[in-house]
Amino acid sequence: QAPFAMKTPQLGFKPVPFGFDDKVVVPEGYRAEVLYAWGDPVGIAGNMPAFRSDASNTAAEQAVQAGMHHDGMHYYPLPLGATGSKHGLLAINHEYTDDGLLHVDGMKTWNADKVKKAQAAVGVSIIEVEATGKGWQVVRPSKYARRIHANTPIAIGGPARGHELMKTDADPQGVEILGTFQNCASGPTPWGTYLTCEENFDGVFINDSGNLTALEKRYGISNKDAGYKWAWEDFRFDLQLNPNEANRFGWVVEIDPFDPQAKPVKRTALGRIKHEGATTTIAANGHVVVYMGDDQRFEYIYKFVSKNKYDPKNRKANLQLLEEGTLYVARFDADGSGSWLPLVAGQNGLSADKGFATQGDVVIKARMAADIAGATKMDRPEWIAVNPRKAGEVYCTLTNNSERGKDGKPGADAANPRNNNLFGHIIRWQENAGDATSTGFKWDIFALAGRPDAAKQEHVGNIKGDAFGSPDGLKFDQQGVLWVQTDVSTSTVNMKEYQGMGNNQMVAVVPETGEFRRFLTGPHGCEITGLAFTPDNKTMFVNIQHPGEPDSERNDPAKPTAISSWPDGANAGRPRAATVVVRKLDGGVIGS
Ligand code: FEO
Ligand code: CA
Ligand code: CA
Ligand code: CA
Repeated sequence: QAPFAMKTPQLGFKPVPFGFDDKVVVPEGYRAEVLYAWGDPVGIAGNMPAFRSDASNTAAEQAVQAGMHHDGMHYYPLPLGATGSKHGLLAINHEYTDDGLLHVDGMKTWNADKVKKAQAAVGVSIIEVEATGKGWQVVRPSKYARRIHANTPIAIGGPARGHELMKTDADPQGVEILGTFQNCASGPTPWGTYLTCEENFDGVFINDSGNLTALEKRYGISNKDAGYKWAWEDFRFDLQLNPNEANRFGWVVEIDPFDPQAKPVKRTALGRIKHEGATTTIAANGHVVVYMGDDQRFEYIYKFVSKNKYDPKNRKANLQLLEEGTLYVARFDADGSGSWLPLVAGQNGLSADKGFATQGDVVIKARMAADIAGATKMDRPEWIAVNPRKAGEVYCTLTNNSERGKDGKPGADAANPRNNNLFGHIIRWQENAGDATSTGFKWDIFALAGRPDAAKQEHVGNIKGDAFGSPDGLKFDQQGVLWVQTDVSTSTVNMKEYQGMGNNQMVAVVPETGEFRRFLTGPHGCEITGLAFTPDNKTMFVNIQHPGEPDSERNDPAKPTAISSWPDGANAGRPRAATVVVRKLDGGVIGS
């Protein structure tokens, strides 16, 4: 572990004010530089097309360039097993596309090539990065450079492999899926792999038959997609023609960034939900524990405990650890205690007559299993962070829930204490005996986000220090500082209850003090999401997602550029999501 992990960290930077400008702002003494923006070549030898600022790159070119809408991210020192901070790999999610920006004329016309380009612009980038005399640079070409997108072959692992509900005409055995998309947050494993998480997968499927199954309804499938129009040109996404295809998404996918030939695997033992992220820790007894949120209003928090134990000397065996184990879902009781409820076929009412004959049934229908188990409906679980300085202490952002307390919806409860929860909160639990594999825990609310000057008490919150709302990204750095990134939606950012709070932002907090300090604000229309640190904590990588996102017509190619021209400037074309490098000018530890 890092040498920092022993002592209480201190925040030494001067906070930045709310941000209203079309730029990234960091504290005095820090510098932020763009490293890898949508359309930049990933670095595959002989195939490094430059970004064309009028968005005229083809689908084939997009498939070897940075995707859109950077999200979860991790830094891996090179080579495998090293701990250095000057040379490594970044694995970066590309969550979804803004087709208004992705094509020369946006969505004004629609065709199969545009669908192919959109499918090539999502998924994951693996890039090689190096600190040089001129700052951090992407190494091109690189033998590690790789793009994984919506048509990359991915194996099915775990209990859903070969299940009837996973079989399609194209994959009659139910063993291989084309692609991953809606890759939101992510997490590393101690054996050097990357877990990318499929969140709002329902948004690309259509079932127009008028007969939605209970399973489809529970996962949000309907007769409309979220505006991506894939099903119009690629019938794989039309559920009348391919009824099981949607079951093949909503998983955690394990990628080995060190081996560009390694086929990624959907780790179905971890359940099928709208996976926000996957945060791994090794319990004292050696089992692997993965914490996961299902980001939708009134959904649940899950954890997976591996059957087998981690062996630091046996990577080959570790690569199979997520194949088998126990999936749990959380119940938060009003007395401050909580339980992890096992989701196991044959237990807790998960019987064959209810549709759970096998563990494959349970994981494919994980939300329905969790309903039966009696889990607590949360205010949109987003990222989860494990405190490196306190065994078994875990934090989860609950970003917001405007429907809490509305007619016909659940009202406030102990763990989700505010109706009309527009600002969100951060919940914290302590696993019993500090053991991450425990089935019981104690919990409290670490922070109710808000603003002290709010008109309504329910929006004031209780945070010390700098105001924020809609916490989403959440990660501990190497020293034990907890970083919080906000995702105030474009329909409310700096408007309504958020009026005067500016663009999305990132704050830092030391758990022992509970004082939040604003470190970074982003450009117009962006979300701040995705965060990584080098082992020496002297370089921070942070993602700026969807700069220039318009408040409504995301398909209007004219409008977004008027909102933001970050990072290339007014004459350069369109705004681009990007990975930014933040360093201290004196070379010191970030946050100090
Ligand atoms: Fe993709 Fe829940 O954020
Ligand atoms: Ca998120
Ligand atoms: Ca969010
Ligand atoms: Ca997002």
